Amino acid sequence: MDQSQPKQLEHVFSFSPGDDRYFQDCAEALFESEQGHKYFSDLDQVKHFLQLGFAHNEIYICTNKHHDFIGFIWANNYGAFNYFPFLQAIAVKPVFRSIGAGTFLMRQFEEAFPDAPLFFLIANPDNLGAYRFYERLGYCPVGKVPDMFICGTTEIIMVKSRNSPNTTHKFSLYKVFRQLSLKGIL
Ligand SMILES: CC(C)(COP(=O)(O)OP(=O)(O)OC[C@H]1O[C@@H](n2cnc3c(N)ncnc32)[C@H](O)[C@@H]1OP(=O)(O)O)[C@@H](O)C(=O)NCCC(=O)NCCS
Repeated sequence: MDQSQPKQLEHVFSFSPGDDRYFQDCAEALFESEQGHKYFSDLDQVKHFLQLGFAHNEIYICTNKHHDFIGFIWANNYGAFNYFPFLQAIAVKPVFRSIGAGTFLMRQFEEAFPDAPLFFLIANPDNLGAYRFYERLGYCPVGKVPDMFICGTTEIIMVKSRNSPNTTHKFSLYKVFRQLSLKGIL
């Protein structure tokens, strides 16, 4: 194989709506992480959390060419302020991490909402790997919420703009958030 080829060309992923067959896989992918053990006491609690995503058909899965389950996203169409897409959760099975599947899932998330001007998610800065992953994909911190899910733990609201001239003009709120964030106010 030509070593000069980008590594991601080795991996071909597919994206499709998740159904109940993948419930266990999704729960395990999310639980088997630092994040999973911090926010959930056991696998049953993760399953309880994911139930709503499956019930609302908001879970999408990534598989490889052998049809192995790789990971999933939970994309909530109007989850942010009842208007903007919100990434409720993303997880890639540990053995498949760092080969581009997470990036693939995030791209699919954004492409699934072609008219959305902004995309929201919540990140925990202690989950440094995930936080850097989101930053690398263009998500910017716009606000902090102390004690949001766990007492003593601050969550960061992150936003990505689609960057079309029309949308940045229409949604100047994002610019305000960004300025406040840069000035250290948020
Ligand atoms: C966060 C998470 C979804 C990222 O998924 P992933 O599949 O590992 O993501 P990617 O492979 O696209 O990118 C991650 C890293 O791999 C590297 N990478 C990307 N494509 C690559 C490739 N083809 N070959 C080698 N490395 C690659 C990236 O540089 C990146 O490294 P960095 O962030 O340390 O700089 C995954 O780590 C995960 O499931 N974590 C546990 C759950 C979690 O914390 N979820 C977030 C909160 S809900």
